[in-house]
Amino acid sequence: MTSSFVRIEALREHVGRAASVRGWVTHLRSSGKVAFIVLRDGTGVLQSVIVKNNVAPDVWERFQQLTVETSIAVTGEVREDARSPGGVEMSATALEIIGTSPTDYPIQPKEHGVDFLLDNRHLWLRSRRQRAIARVRNEIEQAIHDFFYERGFLRVDTPILTAAIGERSGLFETEYFDEGTAFLAQTGQLYGEAAAAAFGKIYTFGPTFRAEKSKTRRHLTEFWMIEPEVAWNDSNDNMRLQEAFVSYLVERALERCAEELKELERDRSKLATVVPPFPRIAYTEAVEILHRKGSAITWGDDLGAEDEALLVEDHDRPIFIYNYPKEAKAFYMKENPEDPRTVLCDDCLAPEGYGEIIGGSQREDDYDKLVERIKTEGLPMDAYGWYLDLRKYGTFTHAGFGLGLERTVAWICGTPHIRECIAFPRLMNRLWP
Ligand code: 4AD
Ligand code: MG
Repeated sequence: MTSSFVRIEALREHVGRAASVRGWVTHLRSSGKVAFIVLRDGTGVLQSVIVKNNVAPDVWERFQQLTVETSIAVTGEVREDARSPGGVEMSATALEIIGTSPTDYPIQPKEHGVDFLLDNRHLWLRSRRQRAIARVRNEIEQAIHDFFYERGFLRVDTPILTAAIGERSGLFETEYFDEGTAFLAQTGQLYGEAAAAAFGKIYTFGPTFRAEKSKTRRHLTEFWMIEPEVAWNDSNDNMRLQEAFVSYLVERALERCAEELKELERDRSKLATVVPPFPRIAYTEAVEILHRKGSAITWGDDLGAEDEALLVEDHDRPIFIYNYPKEAKAFYMKENPEDPRTVLCDDCLAPEGYGEIIGGSQREDDYDKLVERIKTEGLPMDAYGWYLDLRKYGTFTHAGFGLGLERTVAWICGTPHIRECIAFPRLMNRLWP
């Protein structure tokens, strides 16, 4: 095997010279005298040309044995070629088969059912579309870290095995030695609040788990959430941070993932309008709008996916619905002093029917009110002792939010279902591969 090889992304630097490349065969074509191998190595795609009369007979012979997904090494002169994807082509002089691939490779260039594709997710990942989505996700993850780093936030990694409970939806449980039951974290927020009192501005970025029996295009049982928490921010500051954040992520994707978004046939003009400020609609006003649009929602209900779609259809950028009824939201949200039936919170809804990508709120900072909420929700007071301490020892105005990574990636990529936006999705009926 050649010991020095070049990644396809770096081939341009080798124009006019010989180089070796390793990768997987994606297409093969031959006229009998000239053969073409299209090779993928994850950093790019390269076409190699083999001219029968110019190569040793064993090279030509080996070409005949190639199948799609065979891993190979090709060596030859790198030539400039404006029509090629990476701007270069290779005139192959040597060809080595590293790993053969039987002709029953499951992913073929035809329509496959989604269950079949998910069963073969470990191979499906190699497809062009899946590679494009993964690259957009990667860029967005990097942009998230950059956004907070540039603004002086401290990243805090919060536990996944927890004793406290955060949100209302289903919990995954596991036995935990002599300590009883541990729950997989639904959110890092409560820990984020403790960290905000120590560090001022923090964010968490980690996997979160929800044992929800929902089979929708926007629910996973394991998803990644980014949760900033800021001391002294109120609900309005919180929304301003959200719109700056979301706009930053979209701008980054437009700037650095043009190729990928093109591959995904994403209408980029629908992303270019995503700039602050985002329209703000109070929940009560949203219910009136929904009634005018024919929805049967009653004041007090949480918004369903259809309601959300009706509300965003008039807008070319995400919108905030703020100050929901207390009953519809989690116990830790601060009571609205101007209308105690509601809490100081917001959901950020993405356009084009993608719906809620962020849930955020100002937190209840009054010790007694929080105790009251824990009681009425029937939550175990013991588990929240440490959380209440944050209101006992120097309580503080603070607010934060959680952005769902896969939902955000799905919207930016324009994919219909979020299961394509994580390498190995966990769904109600899917624990493998
Ligand atoms: O609205 P949620 O439940 O809010 C929280 O967890 C708060 N503790 C956040 C905070 O204030 N720090 O979830 C936040 C976001 C949602 O808006 C959605 O984007 C995503 O997490 N999300 C899911 N994504 C995929 N699959 C699921 N089952 C999701 N549940 C929530
Ligand atoms: Mg929510």
